[in-house]
Amino acid sequence: MRAGMRVECAVCPGFNAPRGSPPATGTHWISAIMHPMLTTAVKAARRAGSVINRGARDLDLLTVTTKGPKDFVSEVDRAAEAAIVETLHATYPNHAILAEEGTAKGANAAAEHVWIIDPLDGTTNFLHGFPQYCVSIALQHKGQITQAVVYDPVRNDLFTATRGRGAFLNDRRMRVSRRQHLKECLIGTGFPYRHGEHLDAYMRMMHTMTIEAAGIRRPGAAALDLAYVAAGYYDGFWEVGLNPWDVAAGSLLIVEAGGLVGDLGGDAEYLYGGQIIAANPRIFAQMVKLLSPYRDSLPPVIAPLITES
Ligand code: IPD
Ligand code: CA
Ligand code: CA
Repeated sequence: MRAGMRVECAVCPGFNAPRGSPPATGTHWISAIMHPMLTTAVKAARRAGSVINRGARDLDLLTVTTKGPKDFVSEVDRAAEAAIVETLHATYPNHAILAEEGTAKGANAAAEHVWIIDPLDGTTNFLHGFPQYCVSIALQHKGQITQAVVYDPVRNDLFTATRGRGAFLNDRRMRVSRRQHLKECLIGTGFPYRHGEHLDAYMRMMHTMTIEAAGIRRPGAAALDLAYVAAGYYDGFWEVGLNPWDVAAGSLLIVEAGGLVGDLGGDAEYLYGGQIIAANPRIFAQMVKLLSPYRDSLPPVIAPLITES
């Protein structure tokens, strides 16, 4: 970049400034050096965030339908997903889409690039006005997650990562926590409230973790939970029964922040395997030791469950 050149922010239209001047807000500088595919994903996530924030103004007006046991979908989930897919396909019309609500399902099936999307992670929270939910968008290229965005529209927190380029919360580089002993750790989780068959094994894991860790939290949006591991708010996280759209973006955030992600045995089968542990490297090893005995006692893998459109 030449001295004196102005930096245009592709994410926040209209913003540009001389390189080196203080940023007006944190997100401008990071967007100026973003990978173009990540820039597109951020645009899509922010559009979805606007749809979600508009919907949150009057929750009583929303049409909500039930997809399965305790599995709700609102017009906001669908509208947010449509906005994301439209934005991604405007730039990348030949990419495939794996989105929770089924938008563009089957299109470009042979593509090397697949966008994995949860348009609104934490729908139950959203429907109750409980302010903990997010948009999750990841790009998988030849089987590897290469771009990730988790966007919290309540706090306007943007978590991003490009493989090999680190992970960011707004303009700040993220690092996983440095705690070394589980006894000092705050651990996130999610309850298997839909698939009762996981509950007994889960309760045994919960019992162990409650004794071994300093504290357990269950806020109710798995993608945001994973972003919190990357940010170092949690020292670790585990859950069973998640789908690829819950974990794809968060997993890259964690790896790029210096953490580890795996299934309950610590192996790489977490994206489609329906079970995940994520933590800083020391805590990951301690969690795998405690939770790996449960890996094979869980019922057969339930993911991926691609919603019929
Ligand atoms: C759910 C949330 C929740 C997790 C569930 C997910 P949704 O996603 O991530 O934290 O425990 O298993 O299905 O349905 O709100 O997108
Ligand atoms: Ca989800
Ligand atoms: Ca969802």
